[in-house]
Amino acid sequence: MATAEQIKSLVKAYADCNDEKFKTVVLQIAAHEAKLGHDNLARDLKKQIDRVGSKRANIVQLTSTNPMLTLSMPSHDLSELIVSEDISDKIQRILNEYRNRNKLVSYGLTNRRKILIEGNPGTGKTLTASIIASELSLPLYTVQMDKLVTKFMGETSAKLRQIFDSIESTVGVYLFDEFDAIGADRSLDNEVGEMRRILNSFLQFIEQDDSESIIVAATNNQKLLDQALFRRFDDVLHYTLPTSKEIKRLFEYKIKAYDNYFIISKEMIKAAEGLSHAEIARVCDDAIKNSILSDEPITSKAVIALLSERQNVYTCKEA
Ligand SMILES: Nc1ncnc2c1ncn2[C@@H]1O[C@H](COP(=O)(O)OP(=O)(O)O)[C@@H](O)[C@H]1O
Ligand SMILES: [Mg+2]
Repeated sequence: MATAEQIKSLVKAYADCNDEKFKTVVLQIAAHEAKLGHDNLARDLKKQIDRVGSKRANIVQLTSTNPMLTLSMPSHDLSELIVSEDISDKIQRILNEYRNRNKLVSYGLTNRRKILIEGNPGTGKTLTASIIASELSLPLYTVQMDKLVTKFMGETSAKLRQIFDSIESTVGVYLFDEFDAIGADRSLDNEVGEMRRILNSFLQFIEQDDSESIIVAATNNQKLLDQALFRRFDDVLHYTLPTSKEIKRLFEYKIKAYDNYFIISKEMIKAAEGLSHAEIARVCDDAIKNSILSDEPITSKAVIALLSERQNVYTCKEA
């Protein structure tokens, strides 16, 4: 059996997202088991560990051609996203139309590929872009909004043009995350209408684009959403805080994977109301960590305490 130290190192490596460290510890355990004559276990461990790293998203590479884009190859499954049936159907439709785009083209039609996602923070907008890229085996290019916007309108437009050149020349999923940052730079505030002009220029680029790439624009800012904006996109997805049904699914997805016997109480669901998916997922991770470190099973009471802690942070922030 692995020693307590080894297990602790494993958990730490996982928490730090340190794949190399994680691998090293697993190989140490495998070596230890081999010494004890547990050959099959040692071999299995080695086989499993070879897969680590290749499956994880690696947001390391900056494209040499365009420093405003960060490239990653995410690995996510649509089943990870807990949303309403309506939204999940819409995402399925985007995937399906992309997969069958040649068929559509032969009838003079195009697949929906300009997607606007609006909704509260932590409800899965960024995750959705990763899922679309992963499901379609496309690279995900995230546009670095802060690098894009400069004080000078001309410069920002030139940079936008470069990005849309990449969208045309290199097929992928292009995420303009929190794209309202385009209009939110305070230093641009003093010049009346400047923010709006940059945003409009962005929207024009989107409108003119007829590449094969998928463009996802995500925003937390509902105020931006006027008719002029909707018109430019093939699909608009509205994300909301999780319903009680979704909260239950989140708990199931997160906690049951760790402890299959865990029973989700009504009180837990109630205590999670008003929190975002991201916050609830965090609480589940915290509960799992506590359970690992204290060597005690997760209890509904412990989860509720962590949820209230989160709720309180929220109230303090608002006060
Ligand atoms: N709808 C969801 N279903 C499952 N997990 C979610 C969902 N929304 C958020 N999460 C969790 O929270 C993390 C952060 O969410 P993110 O996609 O960055 O939210 P947003 O972009 O809307 O602010 C995700 O990586 C995931 O672990
Ligand atoms: Mg986001």
